[in-house]
Amino acid sequence: MVHRRPLIAGNWKMFKTCPEAVETAKQLLKRVAKTTDVDIMIAPPFTALAQVSDVVKGTCISVGAQNLFWEAEGAYTGEISSSMLVSAGCRYVIVGHSERRQYFNETDESVNWKLKSSLKNGLIPVMCVGESEKEREAEETFSVLDKQVKNGLEDFSADDLKVLVVAYEPVWAIGTGKTATAEQAQEVHEFLRAMLEKKFGNTLAKTTRILYGGSVKPNNIAELMSMPDVDGALVGGASLDPETFSKIIQFQNRT
Ligand code: PGA
Repeated sequence: MVHRRPLIAGNWKMFKTCPEAVETAKQLLKRVAKTTDVDIMIAPPFTALAQVSDVVKGTCISVGAQNLFWEAEGAYTGEISSSMLVSAGCRYVIVGHSERRQYFNETDESVNWKLKSSLKNGLIPVMCVGESEKEREAEETFSVLDKQVKNGLEDFSADDLKVLVVAYEPVWAIGTGKTATAEQAQEVHEFLRAMLEKKFGNTLAKTTRILYGGSVKPNNIAELMSMPDVDGALVGGASLDPETFSKIIQFQNRT
């Protein structure tokens, strides 16, 4: 059995000013500084990336961005490139979050370009996929995911994707308090891993971390993590409070 190191990632979305973000990072670090068995990532808003990176530099916490633009540079007012993220201290970047697909017209194609840019510059992309409630009810979950993964990962080889992280985030579970059951998550994660195997071979499928996201809380993380194909979590609301998020990171003490 291949050991996949768990990754617990916090997506702060459009919350926290610079001083608030710095304070949250400091408070979190106090609580999780001794963590050795789990990778930790926090994704503050762009404006706080550099300052938060300074707070956690050299610690067990890494910093990620919530989005990027695929071009290297140019006249693209308001956009941020992957090399800018690297220079602000980022190690990770979230790509194709459902809120970006829903409100900012992101497509599988733009996800693909963003993945290319992030990998080229040494960022670890967390590619988000997930079905809406309507799609789940219509039993389209697997076909929707199939399309998102196939198109998102078009033109890549297994070698290109060694660091890729996938996050399964059912849209109906994000910010709603409705978590997928551990069994529902496992069923989809297994499907995603099988897709990776078919397209990129056994090694990549076995080593790729697949996170679950959608109303993850301290009281459901241990059960989700007990599933064989759930390798971590992408946490929104519950990552904003350092005490709550530290409990999720320390899920192993809670079983
Ligand atoms: P939530 O968000 O934990 O608040 O449901 C998850 C996410 O959007 O990544």
